[in-house]
Amino acid sequence: MHAQITGWGKYLPERVLTNKDLEKTVDTSDEWIETRTGIRERRIIADDEAASTMAVAAGRRALEVAGLSPQQLDMVIVATSSPDRIMPATAALVQNELGAEGAAAFDVNAACSGFIYALIIAYQFIAAGACENILVVASEAVSRSIDWEDRSTCVLFGDGAGAVVVQANGNATDMLSFVMGNDGSGADLLYIHHPCGLPTNTHNDKRYYMVMDGKNVFRFGVAALADVSRQVIDAAGLNISDIDLFIPHQANNRITQAAMKALGISSEKVFVNLDRYGNTSAASPAIALCEAVEQSRLKQGDMVVLVAFGAGLSWAATVLRWQPDAYS
Ligand code: UT7
Repeated sequence: MHAQITGWGKYLPERVLTNKDLEKTVDTSDEWIETRTGIRERRIIADDEAASTMAVAAGRRALEVAGLSPQQLDMVIVATSSPDRIMPATAALVQNELGAEGAAAFDVNAACSGFIYALIIAYQFIAAGACENILVVASEAVSRSIDWEDRSTCVLFGDGAGAVVVQANGNATDMLSFVMGNDGSGADLLYIHHPCGLPTNTHNDKRYYMVMDGKNVFRFGVAALADVSRQVIDAAGLNISDIDLFIPHQANNRITQAAMKALGISSEKVFVNLDRYGNTSAASPAIALCEAVEQSRLKQGDMVVLVAFGAGLSWAATVLRWQPDAYS
């Protein structure tokens, strides 16, 4: 069975936290953040929001675009590394709130590669004939696990959610190839502890904040974006010049630029919204895909590469032929 993206949506919290705001609370500057990362501002969730509430908002929009009711969903997959609860899955909360009665619901935690992992999983269920309609949402409340006194991490991240609907289609599959992988020897380079993994379960403890070896993650990110893009384009039987738009994980413009330079890709072919949202982890390629469509950066028939890297150390990429109008 073929599969295709037929709907997309995003949700960004209202509250904007600018670099100038951060200057007031940590030893940093707007100039440092912008020149070293490309980030100008990020969104932060309100107290009454969480990964699940953002996922519901993005998911509803994606369902509207697809013209599908929640009751028609066979499966809800939520990619997140900032779940509301360890159990049940955030997807269970999203399924209930949307009213997707009886749909299978589970989370995928592949950190910033999570949306692409989840998308690839959705396509396999449809290809196997096991599902017809799947909602894939990436939602991250990263701000909740940030140490706001640690300038090396707190300036980088933001909250948000992006979603797509994937449907079985008799005509054609828009996912032409995919690559996914992980190198667990790098698990200590970027992590967030959880009480279940520590001998004591003391809360309000700095051990539950994100820890990152920025330099090594930077090196890994440049190599991963370039290598994995090459692999996935080869696997689709295409050349780099055949790709109309690259949507990389929005982590740091210097990482993206170094990787795209290594591939010989001009900046006009690379989608960037990092300046406005920072790094929203798994949600980043999902929000970027949605904005690329909204801004008419993707036309019917275009070839698009989604590519991400993250904690794990994980990586994933896919080549899509953008053809939502071909759904039947
Ligand atoms: O989804 C994946 C998630 N993670 C990433 O993508 C992160 C990858 N890493 C990075 O993006 C970069 O390594 C950072 C943005 C985290 C850091 O940039 P850098 O150019 O590698 O800076 P650095 O770590 O080499 O630090 C240079 C200087 C240091 O000061 P000294 O030792 O030279 O005096 C840092 O203490 O910049 C200092 N610094 C800051 N200064 C102002 C680090 N963070 C800040 C800050 N504001 N926010």
